[in-house]
Order: sequence, then structure tokens, then C-alpha cells
Amino acid sequence: PVERTLVLIKPDAVRRGLVGEILSRFERKGLTIDVLVKREMDAELADAHYAEHVEKPFYPPLKEFMTGGPLVALILSGDSVIDVVRTLVGATDARKAAAGTIRGDLANSNRENLVHASDSPDSAKREINLWFPNF
Ligand code: CMP
Repeated sequence: PVERTLVLIKPDAVRRGLVGEILSRFERKGLTIDVLVKREMDAELADAHYAEHVEKPFYPPLKEFMTGGPLVALILSGDSVIDVVRTLVGATDARKAAAGTIRGDLANSNRENLVHASDSPDSAKREINLWFPNF
């Protein structure tokens, strides 16, 4: 079934000039970019987006990283896009992500892992509403 998912190309990717490389991988896979914007994540949006992580020990540095520079937020659509994008992106800990994935090929950190992607239909719906309330 055609689904939608929310992707963030994180500040490390913008800083490193990897936005085009990452978008290209999604396009070559045959996914559709529905909306795309460069913006910053402020503290309020960070706490809402990462609501399930705000109490975790890794959250303060994660918040500092995610609010520390511009990122690119997009909605992708396609058949089974939520799982397809998770597969393309690779494991959260980029040090362990498989070669051939975005994180496996281009990152080597558990925090600065280049991309966020919704992990379920419920989180996709919640995150699209949060980032693109008018979509
Ligand atoms: P993301 O998919 O955006 O979801 C939560 C983020 O927190 C994750 O990617 C990483 O950037 C970060 N993260 C998750 N676990 C850890 C951890 N153990 N240490 C540092 N950062 C983490």
C-alpha cells in the first residue's frame, strides 16, 4: 500500500554536504518527495518530536545536536515506504549499520547518524502532523 513517512536529514548531513547524496538514494529507489523544506528544529519541536526520549540520558546531547544547525525535513511516499526507508537508512548506531545503507556507508556514530525516519504508521502520522501541520 502507498504510505507516507517523515524523514529528517540531520544537521550533520547538512554540514557535511550530504543532502544531495541522501535525497538521491531515496529518488533512485523510486520514492516520491511530496514536501521538502530546510529549517531548524527549536527546543520545543525537539521535545515534541522526541517525546519518547526526553527522559533518557542520551537526550540532552541529542537535543543540542538536532537544534544546533539547519536540517532538511521531508515527506516521502511510496509502496511500504515506512519500512523501505528504514531499510535504506540502516541501523540507528551507524557504527553497526550494514554497508550499502546510508548510515553504514556515510556515518560512524550512534548520535550523528545523518537521518531520522518514522518507525511505524503511528509515528509517521504523528511526525508528519508535527512537522507539516498543513499537509
Ligand atoms: P533517531 O532515529 O533520530 O531517533 C533517536 C535518536 O537518538 C537516534 O536517531 C540517534 O540520533 C540518537 N540516539 C539513539 N540512541 C542513542 C544512544 N544510545 N546514544 C546517543 N544517541 C542515541
